[in-house]
Amino acid sequence: MKTKASTCLILFALLIAYATISLATKDPELKQCKDKCQTQTHFSQEERDKCAQRCEEYHKEKQRRQHGGEDLQHDDNFNVNPMIMDPQKEYEQCRVQCTRQPEGGRYSQEQCQSDCKEQLKQRQGQETEQERNNPYVFEDRHFITGFQTQHGRVRFLPKFTERSELFRGIENFRVSVLEADPQTFIVPSHWDADALFFVANGRGTISLVWQEKRESFNIKQGDIMRIKAGTTSYLVNRDNKERLVLDKIVRPVNTPGQFEAFFGGGGNNPESFFNAFSDEILEAAFDTKRDRLQRLFGQQKQGVIIKASEEQIRALSRHEEGGIWPFGGESKGTFNLYKQRSTQSNQYGQLYEVDSSQFRQLRDLDIAVSLANITQGGMIAPQYNSKSTKISIVVDGEGYFEMACPHVSQSSQGSQTGRETKGTGPSYQKISSRLRRGTVVVVPAGHPFVAVASDNQNLQLLCFELNAFNNEKFQLAGKRNVISQLEREAKELAFGMPAREVDEVFGRQQDEFFFKGPRRQQQHRGFSDE
Ligand SMILES: *[C@@H]1O[C@H](CO)[C@@H](O)[C@H](O)[C@H]1NC(C)=O
Repeated sequence: MKTKASTCLILFALLIAYATISLATKDPELKQCKDKCQTQTHFSQEERDKCAQRCEEYHKEKQRRQHGGEDLQHDDNFNVNPMIMDPQKEYEQCRVQCTRQPEGGRYSQEQCQSDCKEQLKQRQGQETEQERNNPYVFEDRHFITGFQTQHGRVRFLPKFTERSELFRGIENFRVSVLEADPQTFIVPSHWDADALFFVANGRGTISLVWQEKRESFNIKQGDIMRIKAGTTSYLVNRDNKERLVLDKIVRPVNTPGQFEAFFGGGGNNPESFFNAFSDEILEAAFDTKRDRLQRLFGQQKQGVIIKASEEQIRALSRHEEGGIWPFGGESKGTFNLYKQRSTQSNQYGQLYEVDSSQFRQLRDLDIAVSLANITQGGMIAPQYNSKSTKISIVVDGEGYFEMACPHVSQSSQGSQTGRETKGTGPSYQKISSRLRRGTVVVVPAGHPFVAVASDNQNLQLLCFELNAFNNEKFQLAGKRNVISQLEREAKELAFGMPAREVDEVFGRQQDEFFFKGPRRQQQHRGFSDE
C-alpha cells in the first residue's frame, strides 16, 4: 500500500515538474523575460536569479488572472514589470529623485518622499500591521476588475465583510467604479442589483429600457441617478476628450453582497446569456434556424466597453439637456448635486447634500448623497453621523483623514474582552489615511472623524450615506458643537474642570463645519507615523 502511494506521489510530482517545464518553454514571454534577466550586465548573479524568479511569479500571476478572465494590459495593479529592480532598490531611486524636486514647488519633497514610501508599500504588496488594523480604507489595489477592454473598465471593491466582520451592517452594499474613454459605448445589460451612481467626471447619455418603454438621459459631472435592479441599461461617453467616470453604490437583490451582470445582446465577449439555452429552445423561441442564431449570438467579441463612431454617438445622445422630459427644466431621472444651494459654506469649503425629500428615487434605497468641497488648506469639522455609515470616495484632490475607532486596537493592547473585565471603557485608536483620487473610506455611524485638504488642491469628497433616514450630523467643534450645549455642571463633572475653561476651548472656534486646517508640519505628522 505504502509503496504504491509513494510511487503515485513521485509520478504526480514528475507530472507537475514536466507540466511546469513545458509551460515555461511554451510561453515565449516567460522565456524572453528570463533571457533578459541573464543579459543584464549590471546585475550580480544573485540579482539575475531574483529577476528570473520574478519572471516566474509574473507569469504565474498572469496565468491566474487570465484564468479569471481579466485583461492585464490596462490593470494598474498589474504593471509588475519583472525587469524592474526589486522594490527596495526602486524606492531608493525614487527617494533620490525627490531630492531633485525644487524646494517650495507645488510638489514638495516631503510629499514626494511619502509618495515613494506609498509606492514601496504597494510594490511589496504587503499588508503592514497598520493596514491590518485599518479595514476602513480602500486604495486602488483593493479593487477587483470586473470588465476591461482597451477603452475602459468596470471595477469593484470586494464585499465589505471579506475585509472585516465590522462591516456586517453594510454587507449588502458594494462599491463600483466605471471608467470609459471618450466616444465609447457600454453594451446593454441588466443587473440583479439596484445601483445609484454619481458622475465624477465627463458627460454621457444613459438609456434605460423597461418592458413598455425606453428613456434616455444626458448625464454630466455632478449628476446622481438611480438604476433599478433588472433595468436594461446602456451608456455612451459622448465627450470627445473627457473620460466618463461613474462612482456607484450597488445593492444586490438576490444574495447579500453578491451581484452579476446579464448581457442579452452580445456573443462571446461579453457572453450572451442566450447562449446558455439549448438550441432547440432558441429555435422555438425565436422561430429561427439554429445556424442563423449561432451567427447572431457569436459575433460580438470586443467586450463590454467599445469604441463607437461619431454618428453612432450622435444618434445615441440626441436628446439635449433635460432629456425627453416634456415639461422643461431638468429631467426626472437625474439630480445634479453641484447645482444645489450649498447647505454649509464658508471660505474653507462647501457642502452639497441631497436626500430622499429632494430626490424621491433615493427613498427606498435609504441613501443620502453629499459632496464636500474642502478648500485647499481647509478641513471638515470633527463630527459624526448619528446613524448613517458613510462611504466616501475621493473625487478629486488630496488630503488625509483621521477617525477615532474603538473597534480596532493595537494587538499589544489586548482583546476587547480583556478591556471589559478591567472596566475602563473603550480605548480609541486613531485610524488615519492619505486621501487621493479614488480612495474609498468607510466611516461607521457614531465614529468621530475629520478630513483635511492638502495645501495645494481642493479635496472633493463624495459621500454615500447608507441608512440615511433621520440621520443627523453632529459637529464636535466650531460654532455649533454638541459639547457647548451641556449644562455648566455637566461640563464641570465631565471634564473635571471649571466650565469656564471648557467653554474657552469649545467656544473659541467661530467657524462652522469647515475650518482652517492644521499647519503643514502637523498635517504631515498626521499620517506618516506608520
Ligand atoms: C470648490 O471650491 C472652489 C473654491 O475653493 C470653487 O472654485 C469650485 O467651483 C468649487 N466646486 C464646487 C463643485 O463647488
